[in-house]
Amino acid sequence: MRILAIETSCDETSIALIESAGSSKQPEFSVRSHIVSSQAKLHAEWGGVVPNLAKREHQKNLAPILLKTLNALGITNEESGETAVVPNSKISILNSILEREPELLIQFNKKIAALPKPDIDLIAVTEGPGLEPALWVGVNFARALSFWWDIPLLGINHMEGHIISALFENSEPAAYITKPIAYPAIALLVSGGHTQLVLIKKPLKYDIIGETKDDAAGEAFDKVAKMMRLPYPGGPQISKFALEGSPTAYAFPRPMMRSPDYDFSFSGLKTSVLYTIRDILAKTNKKILSVKTKRDIAASFQAAVTDVLTYKTLRAIKQYKAKSLILGGGVAVNRLLRERLQNELNSQFPNAKYYIPETRMTGDNALMIAEVAYFRAKQAKKTGWKNIRPNATMRL
Ligand code: KG4
Ligand code: ZN
Repeated sequence: MRILAIETSCDETSIALIESAGSSKQPEFSVRSHIVSSQAKLHAEWGGVVPNLAKREHQKNLAPILLKTLNALGITNEESGETAVVPNSKISILNSILEREPELLIQFNKKIAALPKPDIDLIAVTEGPGLEPALWVGVNFARALSFWWDIPLLGINHMEGHIISALFENSEPAAYITKPIAYPAIALLVSGGHTQLVLIKKPLKYDIIGETKDDAAGEAFDKVAKMMRLPYPGGPQISKFALEGSPTAYAFPRPMMRSPDYDFSFSGLKTSVLYTIRDILAKTNKKILSVKTKRDIAASFQAAVTDVLTYKTLRAIKQYKAKSLILGGGVAVNRLLRERLQNELNSQFPNAKYYIPETRMTGDNALMIAEVAYFRAKQAKKTGWKNIRPNATMRL
């Protein structure tokens, strides 16, 4: 099976093309193409992701990325030669699918419409959760392709993608497999938009047992970085500064760490950092923090977030007698978090398995979406271009 997947839920435009071989029980995959184009630098000027800017960039990026992707199948737009005659009715449906993405429609007509139909069995697209304007571009592009080429379309949950991204073994460019999960499993999903603990008792079945009441973990990293005037995205900045700081310099709170549920809250921690910064600036009569203070705040903040995430995750593993732990999402690249979970798992549940994504697979990417699509394809209804629409608050 050959799957083309599109991801535009936030500020990465990504397209992947994968091929499966072998039995459905033990499939092997090869990545024919995987392109991730990050808009982070652009959004950094604004201190965070601007949804309409993301929408504009996705419109600009999708057609060129698709063309590069199709090169892997030997399809180029020079080769398209004379244009086939297309009935007016087909053109008017295409116009209506892409009417809210006029720039993408122009590019579709110019670069894609005349291409020969590629040999692809399924198109997959991130349906949600994510930023609504950003999701719309990917979904409408996928609808347009599905309609134009008459290829089935499947909507995919972005968070399920982050789960599966931890399971790749020996991934691209070589053939790879996805590791079998030891059930029941607990997944800790930490990204810019979500913080969730998920119980997985069997394949493709998810129960969210806890989530954040306010800010997501990644969002807290981004906001604390902003308070220290560090650029967006804040996560990598905080973890870099934390390397040379003291995690015990400031006694920040560990909100909800001992609460009996599995929920999280990071806004109190964020406020505590804000007041600390305000007090330091007032006391030193300065406008900016010293590098040493930034390092210490970063390390102390990171320690507080990591403590809460680790403590609750391990408690969930104990209560649900989980045989494995899966870590996923943009914050899963954080070294302290990866190591703390590993160390706690080793000492408390030495037999439990630990699945973490390769660092380059922690961020948003279409490969994880393609992969979920493979496992969903048999069981899920293929929506067809007519029925699919974005769901910004989609649940697992
Ligand atoms: O999954 P992701 O790429 O996008 C969403 O779906 O939200 O996650 C992005 C988040 C951002 O908040 C970013 O600051 C955070 O992941 N992040 C980190 C690190 N690198 C990225 N957080 C903590 N430590 C890092 N090293
Ligand atoms: Zn994500």
